[in-house]
Amino acid sequence: MQSQASVSEIDSENYRFLQQHVYSQAGIVLEDDKHYLFESRLTPLVRQLGLGSINDLCALLQATRETEVGRQVVEAMTTNETYFFRDPAHYEAIRTVLLPRLKEDRRDMKKLRFWSAAASTGQEAYSLAMLLLQEGFSDWNIEILGTDFSSQVLERARSGRYQQIEVNRGLPAALLVKHFRRSGVEWQLSEPVRRMARFETIDLRKSMRALGPFDLVFCRNVMIYFDTETKKNILTELHDTLFRGGWLLLGGAETAFGVEEWFGRQTVGGAIVYVAR
Ligand SMILES: C[S@@+](CC[C@H](N)C(=O)[O-])C[C@H]1O[C@@H](n2cnc3c(N)ncnc32)[C@H](O)[C@@H]1O
Repeated sequence: MQSQASVSEIDSENYRFLQQHVYSQAGIVLEDDKHYLFESRLTPLVRQLGLGSINDLCALLQATRETEVGRQVVEAMTTNETYFFRDPAHYEAIRTVLLPRLKEDRRDMKKLRFWSAAASTGQEAYSLAMLLLQEGFSDWNIEILGTDFSSQVLERARSGRYQQIEVNRGLPAALLVKHFRRSGVEWQLSEPVRRMARFETIDLRKSMRALGPFDLVFCRNVMIYFDTETKKNILTELHDTLFRGGWLLLGGAETAFGVEEWFGRQTVGGAIVYVAR
């Protein structure tokens, strides 16, 4: 049996190959000091595929251009962390400023469209759905689109099933009781909330204009992994998916730097929001 060290060893050419593979497939930049990340995330895949080492995995990919294995490598290397009502100040800004305005502006059509870009396992989209129900939009025509590069996480988002540890993160107890029921060791989100969101596999580096127009786009905690040019292209595309005056919400470590001509930056309570010009 091979030692842990030899399984997770990565030769320098293979390290560069993996960096380039993840960059070309998802736009994610993994620097030269991320050995531990490649090792810890790819070792389980190596074992699952019955290979001897990460070097063997690279050899397989190079020899066969195996698209399914290539996809699994990228999915293993992406960070999918998310939780309900992440960045509560964003939801407070939506509740106190955006929704009252939309309620007034759209009182005739009663139609709103939202997008959770980089939706991961769906907590962002469903937090918004629960907020909309709480704020009296249950008889409105609401569309919440959740998209992600990874079809694996979207499968989980669609199921609306969450583990105890996931509902413990950010979800108020009252909303757990109201919208979920226990199902074995998991929690199942109710049908009315699930129906408000739909999920699609979309790479943020592709043209997204046709998806819009949206009243609000969440694009949080994904652009930190991209290089400057990719970020700028994505921000420009996101602008074109928003109604004028629509909101873009970014993660705490992200800004719309470099595209000030497209977005105005506003502080709403404790949140920074980018308003499409
Ligand atoms: C850290 S999660 C963020 C989830 C959620 N937006 C939040 O803030 O809680 C980042 C997600 O971005 C997705 N992602 C990475 N590269 C992507 C790309 N090029 N296109 C679309 N999604 C991508 C990953 O699959 C992952 O689910």
